[in-house]
Amino acid sequence: KQSHVGVIGLGVMGKNLALNIADNGYHVAVFDLDTQKVNAAITQEQNERKTGIAVRMQACHNLSEMLANLTTPRVIVLSVPAGAPVDGVCKSLIEAGIEVNDIVIDTGNSLWTDTIEREALYKDQFVFFSSAVSGGEVGARFGPSLMPSGHESAWRYVEPIWKAIAAKVDSTTGLPIERFEPGNPVTEGEPCTTYIGPAGSGHYVKMVHNGIEYADMQLICEAYQLLSDGLGMSAHDIGDVFNGWNKGILNSYLMEISAEVLQQADPLTSKPLVEMILDKAGQKGTGLWTAVSSLQIGCPAPTIAEAVYARAVSTQKNLRMQLNAKLAGPAPVSFSDAEKVEFIANLEDALYCAKVCCYAQGFQLMAMNAKEQKWSLDFAEIAKIWRAGCIIRARFLQSITQAYQDDANLENLLMADSFSQTLSQKHLNWRKTVAASVMQGIPAPCISSAIAYYDSYRCETLPANLLQGQRDFFGSHTFERVDKPAGDKYHLDWSAKQRTLSKM
Ligand code: 6PG
Repeated sequence: KQSHVGVIGLGVMGKNLALNIADNGYHVAVFDLDTQKVNAAITQEQNERKTGIAVRMQACHNLSEMLANLTTPRVIVLSVPAGAPVDGVCKSLIEAGIEVNDIVIDTGNSLWTDTIEREALYKDQFVFFSSAVSGGEVGARFGPSLMPSGHESAWRYVEPIWKAIAAKVDSTTGLPIERFEPGNPVTEGEPCTTYIGPAGSGHYVKMVHNGIEYADMQLICEAYQLLSDGLGMSAHDIGDVFNGWNKGILNSYLMEISAEVLQQADPLTSKPLVEMILDKAGQKGTGLWTAVSSLQIGCPAPTIAEAVYARAVSTQKNLRMQLNAKLAGPAPVSFSDAEKVEFIANLEDALYCAKVCCYAQGFQLMAMNAKEQKWSLDFAEIAKIWRAGCIIRARFLQSITQAYQDDANLENLLMADSFSQTLSQKHLNWRKTVAASVMQGIPAPCISSAIAYYDSYRCETLPANLLQGQRDFFGSHTFERVDKPAGDKYHLDWSAKQRTLSKM
């Protein structure tokens, strides 16, 4: 027995996780049903190692060979597509003789409820543990954000490996320490991983991370459309604006890569590549799950849901082209240079405010589900491990960390003084952006749904009083009264000539 960790599934994520684990001094046994992928991973490691650096990856031809190769209790990392493939590999591991103390870690984007079921399903055969991974290919290779959950004893066992391979944050600045060098991992700084909680919680937290990711991406896309269709700016110039924003309060990995995408020329036509990319967005489901969960729990997350709808509407290109010819919109507006500058400044504020709302939605959703599931989630720690490695990494996560360190039971991020004060200062500019988008007929579903969210929470009285009246009118659904104890139900006899009020 010579390997410390097994990795099954050598797609880009699995291969890069294996290389990352090996970089950190662990011997890794690797397997994939596709032998070419095994060979590619082994060859890549050999090529990356400089003379004198040990090669630590070992190819396995089947799962029995992998089990025989691993020190016990075994640690086996699964990097296979979510859904049936996870159970397929688990069953094969059982057939190959996996033992009851061995730990299998699912790193895919699995549905959190599947993870809960799997922990129970496999408990007599092995320890089913999970660790959601964020950070894409580069993250997996040089430091992802890792969201482990399941048996705490399994966590204690894998913790040193996880802390070694995770992205690192400089504890004084709160900023990522990035070094993308094979064989030279970042060993200093705070690792972006923390034990999230019982089975399912890590995948739930990752799911919400992705919901926020969808909204964050869509917000930037809306800014792009407002600047291009609204102000008539070129993709390259919009990239410059984004690069400028990236230096300030809106600093984020997504802002940085958006600028880079906008400034990339198409190798075929030399036009901006972004203009040659078909405007139909794909999705694999995690944003949708977040929106569904928010509806099921009754936690408002309209900005996240709108981001999922925006992808859906984008795919209906034919219908959009037909309706483009049928539906009227406003005439184009022209802007003076000074007005353009003001528009861009307002948009920066609008993006920031909407971004705060989308994080507020995500964190509140996690809190509400945690309550239902009886998980005790540490939101300061969750915000901390999203400061580096993951797709939504941003300077702003430091302020969220601070807000939850100041008050671990914050019901909503908008309650934190740091955010309520900034949004109160910026809301007028946000409104100007939303007004401009409406008046120019440019859709901004996330920016504008976020302001409706902000304004809804600002309202002491919402029109739900009328709504309850309507419900009582047609369905005797009853209502509570403002002047009577909460929980007391009343009904008006709407159909009677003499309408009388009864306490139900
Ligand atoms: C990450 C990403 C990653 C992936 C998702 C989203 O955190 O590293 O979220 O998990 O990109 O699958 O993908 P879709 O946009 O295809 O749903």
